[in-house]
Amino acid sequence: MENQEVQQEVYSMPRIGDQAPDFTATTTKGQVTLSDFAKDKWIVFFSHPADFTPVCTTEMSGFAQRKKEFDDLNTELLGLSIDSIHAHLGWVSNVKEKTGVYFDFPIIADLDMSVSKKYGMLQPNEAETAAVRAVFFIDPKKKIRLVMYYPLNVGRNMDEILRALKALQVSDQHKVALPLDWKPGDQVIVPPPKTLEEMDKRNKETGIDRIDFYLSKKDLKV
Ligand code: BEZ
Repeated sequence: MENQEVQQEVYSMPRIGDQAPDFTATTTKGQVTLSDFAKDKWIVFFSHPADFTPVCTTEMSGFAQRKKEFDDLNTELLGLSIDSIHAHLGWVSNVKEKTGVYFDFPIIADLDMSVSKKYGMLQPNEAETAAVRAVFFIDPKKKIRLVMYYPLNVGRNMDEILRALKALQVSDQHKVALPLDWKPGDQVIVPPPKTLEEMDKRNKETGIDRIDFYLSKKDLKV
């Protein structure tokens, strides 16, 4: 029966704009209930397939080494894998001993897979008992704003995770959109007009780089 897809239970896949599913879970920093966690902050909630594995160790170390940048963006990190709390503690301690990097953020021990299933992190045709590499960007109102899913054998890109987080925050704060490859300091997109009146106004507007009424960019004054 090679190549046959696993007959799968239907797990929920939270989507952009959904309220983040609530849960209470055991973590390396004690019990966490999402609705009470990181009040008024952003959360980057991510899963990894397994403790004591190479790609996961590089990724978790990446989150740990750049934690200050997440702190500066008013953002808490929250990890998860389908491993026991003892495995987490052993791994955190081993990585600290071998490399000096300390995973100073809560990591959920999701042994019963209840949280992974709520977040579509369990994708049985990729792995039946390990979470894929998911990243959920959750805003201070606990709404899901961006979702990434990576397979087991490809590590994520920390620059992109931080860039996307910054882009979401700039978009919210300044009511603008961000173009291809945008990074802090680049021009931003002025929302296009929605009526003829707004279009006429846009066509006369000064102080913006107008390619046409539907594509105008400006510098952000921060
Ligand atoms: C890893 O992190 O290296 C890994 C974990 C699970 C499956 C494949 C690779």
